[in-house]
Amino acid sequence: MKIELKFIPYTQREAANLQQLFVGNEWPFHFPKIETPESFQSRINRKQFEGKEKKTFLIKNKNSLIGYVKIFDLGEDKLNDEIPLFDIRIAATARGKGIGKQAVQFLSDWVFNNYPNKYKIEATTRIDNIAMRKVLKACNFIKEAHYRNGWETATKRVAAIGYGLLKTDWQNNTITPINWQEDNLI
Ligand SMILES: CC(C)(COP(=O)(O)OP(=O)(O)OC[C@H]1O[C@@H](n2cnc3c(N)ncnc32)[C@H](O)[C@@H]1OP(=O)(O)O)[C@@H](O)C(=O)NCCC(=O)NCCS
Repeated sequence: MKIELKFIPYTQREAANLQQLFVGNEWPFHFPKIETPESFQSRINRKQFEGKEKKTFLIKNKNSLIGYVKIFDLGEDKLNDEIPLFDIRIAATARGKGIGKQAVQFLSDWVFNNYPNKYKIEATTRIDNIAMRKVLKACNFIKEAHYRNGWETATKRVAAIGYGLLKTDWQNNTITPINWQEDNLI
């Protein structure tokens, strides 16, 4: 069954709540994996959640905060055509219940409905972040890049995988494939 979610635009009044999400969970694919009140405060000081070119939403279920998405590289104004990226974090106890898919669908709708000149959304994740890759695939993002050794972890370098969603695919609920054989012609 689909969990009922609300996507609430972030304001400073929610900073303590968001801190609890960051500090109260492990983030195995982020740096740092463990957030502290200090590392979170430094994000606030660097205005990571607010500003012209970014938009943060809190994901709530029955008024409890279970995740967040932050869309960035949105550009200076609504007519900008820069390709946005996003960060997504779901609380550990809420993972694997379909919330990530709903959230990525929500942010895709939000971007394309609010920015008429956006023609694409991109995402990059670690090769071993299977949950994120499944979410992207389910939301019609397709793999566009494989950056070997592109992501440095605490112990080794692993591949980073680049994904993209075209506005036309979002509009038509289609998936436009990439012809990976085209370089055979070179
Ligand atoms: C990645 C993340 C956003 C996905 O959201 P989610 O709500 O857990 O994802 P969903 O429940 O919508 O879907 C996850 C899918 O991956 C599967 N999955 C989850 N964890 C998995 C794992 N460790 N190995 C294999 N598959 C896994 C689920 O079964 C589900 O598969 P399905 O599509 O076949 O049903 C969430 O797990 C999260 O916040 N992780 C930590 C932060 C993070 O990695 N963010 C992304 C940074 S790029």
